[in-house]
Amino acid sequence: MRRDVPLDHAYRLMNHGPTVLVSAAHAGRINLMAAAWAMPLDFKPPKVAVVLDKATFTRELLEASGEFALQLPCRASADLCNTVGNTSGRALAADGSNKFERYGIGHFGGQATGAPLVEGCVAWLECRLLREPHLQQAYDLFLAEVVAAQADERVFSNGRWHFDSAPEDLRTLHHVAGGHFLLPGAALQAGLLPERS
Ligand SMILES: Cc1cc2nc3c(=O)[nH]c(=O)nc-3n(C[C@H](O)[C@H](O)[C@H](O)COP(=O)(O)O)c2cc1C
Repeated sequence: MRRDVPLDHAYRLMNHGPTVLVSAAHAGRINLMAAAWAMPLDFKPPKVAVVLDKATFTRELLEASGEFALQLPCRASADLCNTVGNTSGRALAADGSNKFERYGIGHFGGQATGAPLVEGCVAWLECRLLREPHLQQAYDLFLAEVVAAQADERVFSNGRWHFDSAPEDLRTLHHVAGGHFLLPGAALQAGLLPERS
């Protein structure tokens, strides 16, 4: 079901502005959180940017390990996304637990990083942190290179999302506020306006 995505298509997994789950691991601890403020940054090599608040435990893990994963939850995983976005893994870690265990969230190993990849998402981007201490400290902004990407071929193939023909449950989530999400609508191939002389 999961297919590798060529890295020159990796940015297309996020070009429609989805909310993502950020996961990271370090020294035996694993965690994940939701992030709506994430975007592609470059084509080749593919890069992404994500805003991670200083209070988040996920940020602590990815700053320590230098790697993380962004994955795209879908309609079927809306409650999961809202839950990991409203609870912190810090206290759980102090008890030797984590959100995966606490909420029964499945995960699997990645291809290029040690970050746990979340089952039930529709795309996964493994990222290596490009350390920019000033941006991280002043703006909570984290830049990274995408080093591996996979997507659920039922909904993303040949460099395109196929929301129209895929099951409704596989539509990505777009957060507005307070647990209120939108799902992507119909596809449209745009043309170019004719130039006026
Ligand atoms: C839909 C949604 C989107 C969010 N977007 C962001 C974001 O872009 N950046 C951020 O720092 N926190 C964001 N949050 C909040 C974090 O996910 C939240 O603080 C989380 O509890 C952090 O978990 P952690 O401390 O275990 O890492 C979002 C929460 C939700 C529900």
